[in-house]
Amino acid sequence: MTERNDPCWCGSGLKWKKCHYPAQPQDAKKLEHDYKKQYGILIKTPEQIEGIRSACKLAASILQETCKMAKAGITTNQLNDFAQQLHKKAGAIAAPLGYGEPPYPKSICTSLNDVICHGIPDDKPLVEGDIVNIDVTPILNGYYGDCSAMVEIGNVSEEKHRVVEVSKECLRRAIEILKPGLLLCDIGKVIEDYALQHGCSVVDQFVGHGVGVDFHEPPQVPHHYNTLKIPLVEGMTFTIEPMINAGVRDGIIDPVDQWTTRTADGKPSAQWEHTILITKTGHEILTLL
Ligand code: MF3
Ligand code: CO
Ligand code: CO
Repeated sequence: MTERNDPCWCGSGLKWKKCHYPAQPQDAKKLEHDYKKQYGILIKTPEQIEGIRSACKLAASILQETCKMAKAGITTNQLNDFAQQLHKKAGAIAAPLGYGEPPYPKSICTSLNDVICHGIPDDKPLVEGDIVNIDVTPILNGYYGDCSAMVEIGNVSEEKHRVVEVSKECLRRAIEILKPGLLLCDIGKVIEDYALQHGCSVVDQFVGHGVGVDFHEPPQVPHHYNTLKIPLVEGMTFTIEPMINAGVRDGIIDPVDQWTTRTADGKPSAQWEHTILITKTGHEILTLL
């Protein structure tokens, strides 16, 4: 934890309390400039926040509708096509489609059971006992919203139910503490503490991320123990998306499709994701309806 009397992170040579300390009256323009220069972080303007807010509302609504469709007998390709239609109806584009290298082939991610993330929709029907993460990221008027949730298909094993609940609670606890002045490393601390207490591991190979004007912006938001002493400031928008495993934390990327990432030991994994705005006094979850 940085103390008030420590040197400021910005390199000014001043004490933190005399410089970028959250309680200090700040020159907003200077802060914006410093965050971009020091960390590559884009502090959003009120106009950008409005755009991101709309994209996030749409993300939440597409996610909710698509989760309702997830039942035994439905294929993940059907979920993908349904979500794709909702993007189109809203005048939005699905950010995943064609993203990265090799280009991601579908509009959403559907990650089942031992898949940690980036599962690709296919023609296999969901079956009773599956757990599935659905992750949607629409681009609306140039702005991005990113969220994901788990669905349990019928009755699932105790182990699967546990990762679903633990990952949800990890996200809730991490969001609860967010406010200006909190350090980025405090997020991973809350998440990994809770996961370990409940016999689960935290994936360290993928992280949350700045989002809004681009799909993946700085900063990286680790869910595991880390030492990133970046203070949160008003106008930051980023995701928290803890991937929690029942067994080992390690994931293996499918060598053929180069996206699907499975747990190394084949045990279940679960993830929930929100896009968050840091406000003057705390935070706002943007991907809520
Ligand atoms: N939506 C994912 C995230 O939370 C990223 C998916 S990248 C894709 O960051 F290409 F696989 F879609
Ligand atoms: Co994300
Ligand atoms: Co996502």
